[in-house]
Amino acid sequence: MKINEREKPAFRKRHWKMFHDKDFNWDLAWKIRNLARGGGFCTWDAWHVFSLARKISDGGVYLEIGSWKGASLTCAFLGTKAAKKTVNFIAIECAIQQRFLDNVRSIPNLKIIKAKSDNAQREINPDTIDLLFIDGNHSYVQAKRDIENYWPKIKAGGTLLGHDYFNKGKYFGVKRAADEFFKTRVVSLKPSHCYMVRK
Ligand SMILES: C[S@@+](CC[C@H](N)C(=O)[O-])C[C@H]1O[C@@H](n2cnc3c(N)ncnc32)[C@H](O)[C@@H]1O
Repeated sequence: MKINEREKPAFRKRHWKMFHDKDFNWDLAWKIRNLARGGGFCTWDAWHVFSLARKISDGGVYLEIGSWKGASLTCAFLGTKAAKKTVNFIAIECAIQQRFLDNVRSIPNLKIIKAKSDNAQREINPDTIDLLFIDGNHSYVQAKRDIENYWPKIKAGGTLLGHDYFNKGKYFGVKRAADEFFKTRVVSLKPSHCYMVRK
């Protein structure tokens, strides 16, 4: 889908920085924007997932908790594709929808685990993940459990990216969970909604 010409100037103004990236072009950003419509995954978030996925080594592993319609997974795949890498993808999602399956059908080496992250963690070996994207349940309790359970799964030198780094009532406690666990190691990737921690 081509970007709408009328919307381009405003879109360009908001996002100019990421379009210095040779691989992250208008059409790709627009595709992600449409995939993520209705959710909170913005173009800046897309850019971070894309850029970090591009750095995964050949044969490496991308794992995400919470896939919904597949926007972040698509970004990760496109990042690895741009870098000409073959990466293994794992999506942990407790509520699989047909439109998710349709959107990610063309992603090779994809393992979909239909389960809650608390249960799925038993299927993931320690020190095996290059890039972990946490975007499941954003309550403080679950965000903390996901960090505690999945941080050991990341390889040394790997990266954790977490979405919705803020607190908002009882349903959003990602910031509190991440700050408590990682303290000053947390990097807030503004103006996106992500935080990042290197292992
Ligand atoms: C915010 S959406 C994910 C958005 C997605 N990353 C994107 O790019 O658009 C959160 C998703 O996490 C799933 N989810 C919530 N809690 C979960 C859990 N504990 N384990 C696995 N999936 C979970 C929900 O079903 C929902 O599809």
